[in-house]
Amino acid sequence: MTNNGFTLWFTGLSGSGKSTLAEYITPILIERGTPVEVLDGDVVRTNLSKGLGFSKEDRDTNIRRIGFVANMLARNGVCSITAAISPYSAVRDECRAQCDATFVEVYVEAPLAVVEERDTKGLYAKARSGEIKNFTGVSDPYEAPTNAEIEVHTGDESIEESAKKILTWLEGKGLVQPAANATA
Ligand code: ADX
Repeated sequence: MTNNGFTLWFTGLSGSGKSTLAEYITPILIERGTPVEVLDGDVVRTNLSKGLGFSKEDRDTNIRRIGFVANMLARNGVCSITAAISPYSAVRDECRAQCDATFVEVYVEAPLAVVEERDTKGLYAKARSGEIKNFTGVSDPYEAPTNAEIEVHTGDESIEESAKKILTWLEGKGLVQPAANATA
């Protein structure tokens, strides 16, 4: 099996589970011989995109930067996992188009009511009260993908189920080795 890199592009609302899923599958991929780097929106915004805000222009700049780095890694044999909201489909498609390696878009779907109920960072409450403006899903758009290779539904599925969907898809495409102890 060749060790081709690829980009695993997670997109979804804040709190939908992108970072959690990325963290969950990273050690699994590494164990199967795939080198991994995670480009997490919250983390990237503390360094590579420090100073950018949440206007459409700044979000697009943030996503283009993430896409640029993800591609550099992917074309050198790494699995780049990106975990940013990436709310605009045009820029996601731009990142797909400029990717020299396989680009796998994963729609991490969860209904707004569910992520709002979770409100892991307390930001939805602040968005509702108006303390935070232009909050994705509340007062700013989220353009759901229509052509994602994989969809996971974290409102209904356990993290194990969502991760399994992703891993099974990647195995099917020969991008990731099956688990050594796989029985099915
Ligand atoms: S993106 O739109 O540019 O892709 P990114 O994933 O980097 O967003 O950052 C989103 C994270 O920033 C959210 O999970 C949340 O913690 C925080 N955040 C702060 N303000 C906003 C906002 N107005 N809209 C969305 N997320 C915000």
